[in-house]
Amino acid sequence: MKQTGIRHFSGKRVWIIGASSGIGEACAKKLIEQGARVALSRRRVERLNTIAETAKANQTLVVPIDVTNNDQLQQGYESIFDTWGAIDLLLFVSGIYTPQRANYFDFSAAEQTIDANLLGPMRAVALVLPEMLKRHEGHTAIVGSVAGYSGLPKALAYGPSKAATINFCETLYYDLLPEGVSVHMISPEFVATEATAQNDFEMPALISTDEAAKEILNGIQKKGGVDIHFPKRFSGFLKFLRILPYPIYFWIV
Ligand SMILES: NC(=O)c1ccc[n+]([C@@H]2O[C@H](COP(=O)([O-])OP(=O)(O)OC[C@H]3O[C@@H](n4cnc5c(N)ncnc54)[C@H](OP(=O)(O)O)[C@@H]3O)[C@@H](O)[C@H]2O)c1
Repeated sequence: MKQTGIRHFSGKRVWIIGASSGIGEACAKKLIEQGARVALSRRRVERLNTIAETAKANQTLVVPIDVTNNDQLQQGYESIFDTWGAIDLLLFVSGIYTPQRANYFDFSAAEQTIDANLLGPMRAVALVLPEMLKRHEGHTAIVGSVAGYSGLPKALAYGPSKAATINFCETLYYDLLPEGVSVHMISPEFVATEATAQNDFEMPALISTDEAAKEILNGIQKKGGVDIHFPKRFSGFLKFLRILPYPIYFWIV
């Protein structure tokens, strides 16, 4: 049995969280172009309005929320539900990245990272699932990272937040497959955004936000598209590394 994809986005009701910069912005623009109805969320409202202005009347909803705030998420979900009656795709893109190593480990930054990157998607999924389960229809897509595959340098809090997100998606998949609800676990490698602009090292196989959005939306459209990772030339290599014995893995990394 394979989970379903969304064959056409036209008319679909999509809630994008983290919608107006980087990867999320590129996905929002493509979905608007393809005729989806898009609810745009992030904390700062100004850029959400700018994206909404590119869409047709009534094609978008602007729903500013902080994913670390239960009440804001709940109210955001209710306002979308009251307008549209259901959500076909939750696309959770939002995330924060603070490079951290053992010699400058900042616990409060780590706590914020786990709250935004792991508890954030859990909160959103908990909101949309009951209605999707009732309809036996719907898609939850969460952007994790290849940094969650296995330990990488400078990712002391970010890596664990993404590793747990991958595990969360895998575990959701077992339960949702027989219910007709699809799970899309999205693991990008380096994408040129504000978040990666702070990296002081050469990023292998760096791709644009446009390419990343294409990979994500194509993956969600495919039947069985649970594991969406890209660019394959590098994400495939990292998948291979994690099956190696630790001494070889640590030596290569
Ligand atoms: N860029 C890469 O190379 C790369 C690689 C692998 C995975 N990823 C993942 O891809 C996702 C997007 O990354 P990006 O590079 O596109 O980052 P970005 O340009 O920094 O965008 C992050 C988005 O998340 C929103 N956000 C952050 N904290 C939030 C919060 N508490 N509540 C609501 N929204 C919040 C931001 O808006 P506000 O600040 O206004 O809230 C922004 O829209 C992240 O999950 C990231 O971990 C990125």
